[in-house]
Amino acid sequence: MKLEKERIEEEKKKAALEAVKHVKDGFVVGLGSGSTAAYAIKEIGKRIRQEEIRVLGIPTSYQAFLLAVQCGIPITTLEEHPKVDLTIDGADQIDRELNLIKGMGGALAREKIVAFASEKLIIVADESKKVEILGENNHPVPIEVLPFAAAILMHKIREYGGKPTLREGSGKVGPVITDNGNVIIDVDFGLIQSPAELENELKRFPGVVETGLFVGMADIVYIGKRSGVEELTRNRKVEKKN
Ligand code: 5RP
Repeated sequence: MKLEKERIEEEKKKAALEAVKHVKDGFVVGLGSGSTAAYAIKEIGKRIRQEEIRVLGIPTSYQAFLLAVQCGIPITTLEEHPKVDLTIDGADQIDRELNLIKGMGGALAREKIVAFASEKLIIVADESKKVEILGENNHPVPIEVLPFAAAILMHKIREYGGKPTLREGSGKVGPVITDNGNVIIDVDFGLIQSPAELENELKRFPGVVETGLFVGMADIVYIGKRSGVEELTRNRKVEKKN
Protein backbone atom coordinates (compact mmCIF):
# COMPACT_ATOMS: atom_id res chain seq x y z
CA MET A 1 0.00 0.00 0.00
CA LYS A 2 1.25 3.46 -0.91
CA LEU A 3 2.33 5.67 1.92
CA GLU A 4 -0.09 8.51 2.60
CA LYS A 5 2.62 11.09 1.92
CA GLU A 6 3.47 9.52 -1.44
CA ARG A 7 -0.21 9.49 -2.43
CA ILE A 8 -0.60 13.19 -1.57
CA GLU A 9 2.49 14.04 -3.64
CA GLU A 10 0.96 12.17 -6.59
CA GLU A 11 -2.29 14.13 -6.20
CA LYS A 12 -0.42 17.42 -6.15
CA LYS A 13 1.51 16.46 -9.25
CA LYS A 14 -1.62 15.40 -11.16
CA ALA A 15 -3.24 18.76 -10.42
CA ALA A 16 -0.12 20.65 -11.48
CA LEU A 17 0.24 18.76 -14.76
CA GLU A 18 -3.39 19.51 -15.64
CA ALA A 19 -2.81 23.22 -15.04
CA VAL A 20 0.34 23.33 -17.17
CA LYS A 21 -1.75 22.19 -20.18
CA HIS A 22 -3.07 25.79 -20.22
CA VAL A 23 0.43 27.16 -20.92
CA LYS A 24 0.80 28.15 -24.58
CA ASP A 25 3.71 29.20 -26.75
CA GLY A 26 4.57 32.87 -26.11
CA PHE A 27 2.96 33.00 -22.65
CA VAL A 28 4.21 35.02 -19.70
CA VAL A 29 3.46 32.78 -16.72
CA GLY A 30 3.34 33.61 -13.01
CA LEU A 31 5.20 30.90 -11.13
CA GLY A 32 3.60 30.10 -7.79
CA SER A 33 5.27 29.05 -4.56
CA GLY A 34 5.07 25.93 -2.41
CA SER A 35 5.36 22.22 -3.07
CA THR A 36 2.39 21.87 -5.48
CA ALA A 37 3.32 24.86 -7.61
CA ALA A 38 6.85 23.38 -7.77
CA TYR A 39 5.48 20.45 -9.80
CA ALA A 40 4.02 22.97 -12.25
CA ILE A 41 7.33 24.83 -12.56
CA LYS A 42 9.15 21.54 -13.29
CA GLU A 43 6.55 20.62 -15.92
CA ILE A 44 6.83 24.03 -17.62
CA GLY A 45 10.60 23.52 -17.75
CA LYS A 46 10.04 20.10 -19.30
CA ARG A 47 7.70 21.50 -21.96
CA ILE A 48 10.23 24.24 -22.81
CA ARG A 49 12.89 21.57 -23.35
CA GLN A 50 10.74 19.01 -25.14
CA GLU A 51 8.28 21.12 -27.15
CA GLU A 52 10.51 24.16 -27.50
CA ILE A 53 7.69 26.49 -26.46
CA ARG A 54 8.72 30.03 -25.60
CA VAL A 55 7.63 30.90 -22.08
CA LEU A 56 8.75 33.63 -19.69
CA GLY A 57 8.28 33.11 -15.96
CA ILE A 58 7.55 35.62 -13.21
CA PRO A 59 8.45 33.96 -9.90
CA THR A 60 6.34 34.75 -6.83
CA SER A 61 9.15 33.97 -4.38
CA TYR A 62 12.85 33.31 -4.10
CA GLN A 63 11.98 29.57 -3.95
CA ALA A 64 10.11 29.80 -7.27
CA PHE A 65 12.90 31.88 -8.78
CA LEU A 66 15.60 29.34 -7.88
CA LEU A 67 13.54 26.41 -9.14
CA ALA A 68 12.65 28.20 -12.38
CA VAL A 69 16.33 28.88 -13.05
CA GLN A 70 17.17 25.22 -12.35
CA CYS A 71 14.41 24.15 -14.75
CA GLY A 72 15.66 26.44 -17.51
CA ILE A 73 12.68 28.81 -17.50
CA PRO A 74 13.70 32.30 -18.67
CA ILE A 75 12.76 34.84 -16.02
CA THR A 76 11.10 38.20 -16.58
CA THR A 77 9.66 40.91 -14.35
CA LEU A 78 6.42 42.82 -13.95
CA GLU A 79 8.29 45.91 -15.17
CA GLU A 80 8.97 44.20 -18.49
CA HIS A 81 5.66 42.32 -18.64
CA PRO A 82 2.95 43.96 -16.56
CA LYS A 83 0.38 41.73 -18.26
CA VAL A 84 0.75 38.10 -17.20
CA ASP A 85 -1.15 35.52 -19.27
CA LEU A 86 -1.55 32.91 -16.58
CA THR A 87 -0.43 32.19 -13.03
CA ILE A 88 -0.33 28.70 -11.55
CA ASP A 89 -0.11 28.62 -7.77
CA GLY A 90 -0.98 26.48 -4.75
CA ALA A 91 -3.28 27.23 -1.82
CA ASP A 92 -3.76 26.27 1.80
CA GLN A 93 -7.57 26.32 1.87
CA ILE A 94 -10.12 26.62 -0.96
CA ASP A 95 -13.83 27.20 -0.39
CA ARG A 96 -16.79 26.55 -2.71
CA GLU A 97 -16.59 30.04 -4.25
CA LEU A 98 -12.88 29.44 -4.93
CA ASN A 99 -11.87 31.95 -2.29
CA LEU A 100 -8.51 31.01 -0.86
CA ILE A 101 -6.25 31.18 2.13
CA LYS A 102 -2.66 31.31 0.95
CA GLY A 103 0.66 32.14 2.53
CA MET A 104 1.75 29.22 4.66
CA GLY A 105 4.94 29.39 2.57
CA GLY A 106 5.25 33.09 3.39
CA ALA A 107 5.03 34.28 -0.22
CA LEU A 108 1.49 35.70 -0.11
CA ALA A 109 2.29 39.31 -1.00
CA ARG A 110 4.15 38.59 -4.22
CA GLU A 111 1.71 35.78 -5.02
CA LYS A 112 -1.20 38.19 -4.78
CA ILE A 113 0.53 40.88 -6.83
CA VAL A 114 1.39 38.43 -9.62
CA ALA A 115 -2.15 36.97 -9.49
CA PHE A 116 -3.54 40.51 -9.75
CA ALA A 117 -1.44 41.09 -12.88
CA SER A 118 -2.69 37.83 -14.43
CA GLU A 119 -5.39 37.25 -16.97
CA LYS A 120 -6.07 33.90 -15.34
CA LEU A 121 -5.22 32.33 -11.98
CA ILE A 122 -5.18 28.55 -11.78
CA ILE A 123 -4.84 26.96 -8.36
CA VAL A 124 -3.43 23.48 -7.92
CA ALA A 125 -3.88 21.42 -4.77
CA ASP A 126 -4.50 18.04 -3.22
CA GLU A 127 -7.88 17.13 -1.73
CA SER A 128 -6.97 18.13 1.82
CA LYS A 129 -7.17 21.80 0.80
CA LYS A 130 -10.90 21.83 0.01
CA VAL A 131 -13.11 23.24 2.78
CA GLU A 132 -16.69 24.40 3.16
CA ILE A 133 -15.73 27.60 4.95
CA LEU A 134 -12.32 29.25 5.11
CA GLY A 135 -10.80 29.13 8.58
CA GLU A 136 -12.03 25.59 9.27
CA ASN A 137 -9.90 23.57 11.69
CA ASN A 138 -8.56 26.83 13.12
CA HIS A 139 -6.55 27.39 9.97
CA PRO A 140 -4.91 30.81 10.33
CA VAL A 141 -4.89 33.64 7.83
CA PRO A 142 -1.28 34.70 7.25
CA ILE A 143 -0.84 38.47 7.22
CA GLU A 144 2.39 40.08 6.03
CA VAL A 145 3.13 43.22 8.03
CA LEU A 146 5.85 45.80 8.37
CA PRO A 147 8.12 44.80 11.28
CA PHE A 148 7.61 48.27 12.81
CA ALA A 149 3.86 47.61 13.01
CA ALA A 150 3.95 43.98 14.21
CA ALA A 151 3.44 44.62 17.95
CA ILE A 152 0.60 47.12 17.56
CA LEU A 153 -1.06 44.98 14.92
CA MET A 154 -0.98 41.90 17.20
CA HIS A 155 -2.70 44.03 19.83
CA LYS A 156 -5.33 45.47 17.44
CA ILE A 157 -6.03 42.07 15.87
CA ARG A 158 -6.65 40.62 19.35
CA GLU A 159 -9.11 43.47 20.01
CA TYR A 160 -10.76 42.70 16.68
CA GLY A 161 -11.33 39.11 17.82
CA GLY A 162 -8.49 37.22 16.11
CA LYS A 163 -5.84 35.07 17.76
CA PRO A 164 -2.50 36.23 16.35
CA THR A 165 0.85 34.42 16.41
CA LEU A 166 4.04 35.94 15.08
CA ARG A 167 5.48 33.32 12.72
CA GLU A 168 8.81 31.98 13.97
CA GLY A 169 11.54 30.86 11.62
CA SER A 170 13.21 27.48 11.55
CA GLY A 171 16.95 27.21 11.02
CA LYS A 172 17.14 30.70 12.49
CA VAL A 173 16.14 32.24 15.79
CA GLY A 174 13.45 34.91 15.74
CA PRO A 175 10.62 35.61 13.31
CA VAL A 176 10.39 34.57 9.68
CA ILE A 177 11.50 37.45 7.44
CA THR A 178 9.70 37.43 4.10
CA ASP A 179 11.26 37.97 0.67
CA ASN A 180 10.12 41.60 1.12
CA GLY A 181 11.84 42.08 4.49
CA ASN A 182 8.60 41.93 6.47
CA VAL A 183 7.20 39.58 9.13
CA ILE A 184 4.11 37.38 9.14
CA ILE A 185 1.36 37.22 11.72
CA ASP A 186 -0.78 34.06 11.49
CA VAL A 187 -4.26 34.83 12.75
CA ASP A 188 -6.93 32.35 13.75
CA PHE A 189 -10.26 34.10 13.05
CA GLY A 190 -12.38 30.96 13.49
CA LEU A 191 -14.81 30.30 10.65
CA ILE A 192 -14.67 33.13 8.11
CA GLN A 193 -18.25 33.69 6.97
CA SER A 194 -17.40 36.69 4.80
CA PRO A 195 -13.83 36.56 3.47
CA ALA A 196 -14.34 39.75 1.42
CA GLU A 197 -15.44 41.73 4.47
CA LEU A 198 -12.56 40.43 6.58
CA GLU A 199 -10.09 41.21 3.81
CA ASN A 200 -11.40 44.78 3.51
CA GLU A 201 -11.24 45.31 7.26
CA LEU A 202 -7.69 44.00 7.56
CA LYS A 203 -6.44 46.14 4.68
CA ARG A 204 -7.49 49.19 6.68
CA PHE A 205 -4.97 48.44 9.46
CA PRO A 206 -1.86 50.58 8.91
CA GLY A 207 1.21 48.38 8.55
CA VAL A 208 -0.62 45.50 6.88
CA VAL A 209 1.20 44.84 3.63
CA GLU A 210 -1.01 42.01 2.38
CA THR A 211 -3.28 39.27 3.65
CA GLY A 212 -3.44 35.64 2.63
CA LEU A 213 -7.14 35.94 1.76
CA PHE A 214 -7.54 35.71 -2.01
CA VAL A 215 -11.15 36.63 -2.65
CA GLY A 216 -12.64 36.18 -6.12
CA MET A 217 -9.20 35.85 -7.71
CA ALA A 218 -9.01 32.17 -8.71
CA ASP A 219 -10.53 31.23 -12.07
CA ILE A 220 -9.93 27.50 -12.03
CA VAL A 221 -8.90 25.07 -9.31
CA TYR A 222 -7.48 21.64 -10.07
CA ILE A 223 -7.73 19.17 -7.23
CA GLY A 224 -5.60 16.07 -7.62
CA LYS A 225 -7.44 12.97 -6.47
CA ARG A 226 -6.79 9.24 -6.33
CA SER A 227 -9.13 8.78 -9.32
CA GLY A 228 -7.96 11.72 -11.45
CA VAL A 229 -8.29 15.48 -11.34
CA GLU A 230 -11.32 17.50 -10.31
CA GLU A 231 -11.78 20.83 -12.05
CA LEU A 232 -13.60 23.56 -10.16
CA THR A 233 -14.55 26.82 -11.74
CA ARG A 234 -16.53 29.54 -10.05
CA ASN A 235 -19.81 28.34 -11.56
CA ARG A 236 -19.34 24.72 -12.46
CA LYS A 237 -17.53 21.54 -11.58
CA VAL A 238 -16.17 18.96 -14.04
CA GLU A 239 -14.65 15.60 -13.19
CA LYS A 240 -11.77 14.40 -15.35
CA LYS A 241 -10.56 10.82 -15.22
CA ASN A 242 -6.98 9.89 -15.94
C1 5RP B 1 2.93 29.97 -0.25
C2 5RP B 1 1.58 29.47 -0.61
C3 5RP B 1 1.50 28.08 -1.12
O1 5RP B 1 1.00 28.08 -2.40
C4 5RP B 1 0.60 27.31 -0.19
O2 5RP B 1 1.15 27.38 1.12
C5 5RP B 1 0.46 25.85 -0.61
O3 5RP B 1 1.67 25.19 -0.49
P1 5RP B 1 1.80 23.62 -0.77
O4 5RP B 1 1.48 23.41 -2.21
O5 5RP B 1 3.23 23.30 -0.41
O6 5RP B 1 0.83 22.93 0.15
O7 5RP B 1 0.58 30.15 -0.54
O8 5RP B 1 2.88 31.28 0.26
